[in-house]
Order: sequence, then C-alpha cells, then structure tokens
Amino acid sequence: MAQTTKMIVDKDFVISRIDQRIYGSFIEHLGRAVYSGIYQPGHPSADADGFREDVAELVRELNVPIVRYPGGNFVSNFYWEDSVGPIEQRKKRLDLAWRTFEPNEVGLGEFAKWAKKVNTDVMMAVNLGTRGVSDALNLMEYCNLDTDSYYANLRRSHGRKEPYNIKTWCLGNEMDGPWQTGHKSAAEYGHLAAETAKAMKQMDRNAEFVVCGSSNVDMPTFPQWEATTLEETYNYVDYISLHQYYGNAKDDTADFFAKTQDMETFLRTVIATCDFVKAKKRGKKDIMLSFDEWNVWYHSHQKDDEAMRERPWQSAPALLEDIYTFEDAIVDGLILIEFLKHADRVKVACLAQLVNVIAPIMTEKDGRAWRQTIFFPYYHASKYGRGYALQPVISTGKHDTSRHEDVSDIESVAVWNDEKQELTIFAVNRNTEEDIAFEADVRGFEGYRFIEHLALESDDMKVTNSAEEEKVRPISKNGGTFDEGKFSTVLKKSSWNVIRFAK
Ligand code: AHR
Repeated sequence: MAQTTKMIVDKDFVISRIDQRIYGSFIEHLGRAVYSGIYQPGHPSADADGFREDVAELVRELNVPIVRYPGGNFVSNFYWEDSVGPIEQRKKRLDLAWRTFEPNEVGLGEFAKWAKKVNTDVMMAVNLGTRGVSDALNLMEYCNLDTDSYYANLRRSHGRKEPYNIKTWCLGNEMDGPWQTGHKSAAEYGHLAAETAKAMKQMDRNAEFVVCGSSNVDMPTFPQWEATTLEETYNYVDYISLHQYYGNAKDDTADFFAKTQDMETFLRTVIATCDFVKAKKRGKKDIMLSFDEWNVWYHSHQKDDEAMRERPWQSAPALLEDIYTFEDAIVDGLILIEFLKHADRVKVACLAQLVNVIAPIMTEKDGRAWRQTIFFPYYHASKYGRGYALQPVISTGKHDTSRHEDVSDIESVAVWNDEKQELTIFAVNRNTEEDIAFEADVRGFEGYRFIEHLALESDDMKVTNSAEEEKVRPISKNGGTFDEGKFSTVLKKSSWNVIRFAK
C-alpha cells in the first residue's frame, strides 16, 4: 500500500476568500444548448416563455452564479440587434463558427429572463471578430443604460424598462485562434480590446472587463500573446481569460489524471505574465484570472467534424454532445481543486458548457433531462466550496505516468465556510493502482464534528450515465474515524471525495 497521505487543515492558512463565480458556466448558441436545451416550447415541462423547467431545475441544483453568453466562437459573428425585438421580425442568420442556422428565437432578452429564472448572472461577450467599438457600445447602452437615448429606448420599446445591468464583459473570444472569425494578431487585438474597454468604461463605470488570453496552453503564441495584449490593455481590464480542455484519446487513465499538473503550470505562467506587465506599467492592480472555458472535451470530435462538413446550416444539430465517463468526472474534480488552490487569482471560471454541449446536463429532445457523470464534482464544489480556500499542507506519495513525473497521489484542498461554520475537504486519489490511507488533522477547528464522507467511486473508468440510469452518482462512505481532531479513512483508487465537518 502507498504511504499514508497526511493533511493539515488550519484556519490561519488562508489562500483567499473564494469568489463564488468560480462555479460559473457557459451557454453558447451552439448545437442543442439553447434550442431543445434550455428552451423548447411545446415540451411537457416548458413554462409560458418556452423554457424547460426540468433543465432549469437541474441548473438551480448546481447553483450556478454566472453564465457566459452567447459564445464562444459564435460571438465573433454575432449581430446582437438581430436577437432582440419582436421574434417574427428578427433576422435569421448563419453561424460561421459551427456552420449552423441561427433562428434568433432566443436572444439577449430571452436569455436574461432565463438567467433570472435560474438565479444566475449573465457574463456577456461582445463581438470583436467582425465588429468593434461602436457595436460594443450600442450593446452596452441597450443592456445597461437608463438614459433617454436611442438604444436604451430601443430596449424599452422591446418591453424591458429596467436595464439588465450586466457587470462582467468579455472582450471577444479566443482571438488568438486562426479558426476565429476575425482572428487578429496580439497587437491588433490588444489595441482593439483596449479601445473597446476604455469606451465601454466611459459609458458604465461599474462594468468590468475580461481580455482574451490564449485559447489553450499549446498555442504557439502562448504566453507572448498574454504579455502583448496585457501591455495594451492593462489600464482598462480586470481579468484575462484562460481556456483549456482535456482528453484521453490514448486511453491512458493515469496520465489523463496527471494533466492538471499542466494546468498548474498554465495558471502559474499566466499569473507571472500578469505580474510582469503590472511591474512594467508600475501598476497598482493585480490582473485576475477568468478561466472561462474548462472541461473534458474529446469524445465527440470526429462525429462533429463530419457533421459540420457533410451537413452544414442545420438548426440546432446535436454537436459537441460528449457522453462523459467516470474518469472524466475525476478530471473535472481535479480541475476544481486546482481553481480552489489558486483562489487568490482565479476569480471567475466557467464549466464549458452547461446544457447538451460538453455539458453536465443533457436533454432528450422531447423527453427527459439527466445528469452526466461530471455533474457531481461540480455540484459538490458549488454547494460546499464557498467561503475561504485553505492552503493544503499535505504530504503524499508520488508516481510517474507516461508523460508526467512526480504526480501527487492525492490532490486536495479544504474550504472553510465561515457563515455556515462548515469545513469541507475535497480530495482526489488519482493513483489508479492503489487505495490510499488518508489522515486529515483539523485540530484548528475546535468543536467541529464529522458530518459525512461523500465519494464517486468505480472500478469501471468508462462507465457513463444516461436518461435511464445514473450509474455514476455520489455514495455516502462509512468507515472513517474522527478522534481528537484527526479524521482517518482510506480513499479508494481513482476516486473523488468530499469530507464534511460542521460546528
Ligand atoms: O466551448 C466550445 C468552444 O470551445 C467555444 O466556442 C470556443 O471558445 C472554444 O474553442
């Protein structure tokens, strides 16, 4: 058996107060995310506005604080004016990113209504691919201003008196990617993003801005892209975006679980780049991180390439419908732990995406809504991961995988919810060979008692859920002991664990 992992949890080892927006998500006009996802008039569970209540219920279960919208790659050719006003007068459009047909039945106003229904905020992206400063300003005026001016009045004429008051704005999407409509060099994009944020800030002093970082860590322009764009935009923006998806195409589970080591390096490099630019500018503020696309994504690649090539311009085709395995849920759990470990700099993160498209929630077109395997770590983190992230002081074994060295067996972090007086330890045993004895010393939390140990466990890494059956779902574990402030148990190989204490 591998060495016992020992963890010390102390109230004084605070990383940061957790910004709840790290449990954000993302809805793009892509595939069936919107049409037959969140919206399907005529569905048995549809409300008067056509929103599926079965889906809304699952979104509320996840308690998602913010949802990025409307893209993604989609936003780079998005004409927001076509998505507002009387539906029968809206222009139908072609979406170049996913080669699909956009009926514009759901637009800005409908999405804001849905966001209210599921208790979430909207994080709005502006089109800096085919458009620029003036359209971003018009959109902001439509959304946020209470003035007697053209776009604010247009919103009123569409039946919405109060402004939407959208606070967080993404300055385009993945502008470093050659696939992006209106792709730009770092200098071109940096200049446009700075001018856009500057003008938008003139209009709404409360707004905050996310500048595009690299589309992933393997982009050839990473991290020079970050340095150049931040040098242009430092004075006007608050966050830089990071995107990263993982896959296990080589069917090497141990190495798949090690990939968050790469994420750690990615985060450290972006933080270092932000701090370099801050120093260079003699700046006072830290640029924070918005990890606004993250997940496992690879199961659907081949099918999607074929669909977009062979059958373009369909309305809401099934695209990016990855069916997630047990091991994918473990990777998502590892990613969430990584965000908590960097809670001092990661202030926004969006699981990409929320419904049907690489999503924790799936729907049958005319039938049920159901939870994928990856629903559960996200649910646990969102539910129990609020408060302060505590520095994990941990001694654990290490192992090597095919492409990673010195991979820690146990990845863990603790969260102290001061309001509820609760302490939660999130832990993944990413050793695929061995169960590992785990001891958590929580002596700093006097008067706390052990509540429960929840876990995702399976001997079958490839097991999936479906509308018929949640084969992967949390179990409640017995067998741990809690004595004189020390909790001891065994964490099963390849498992996600949530260990809870309360006063
Ligand atoms: O989330 C799917 C796509 O992944 C997004 O549209 C894009 O930003 C990223 O490449």
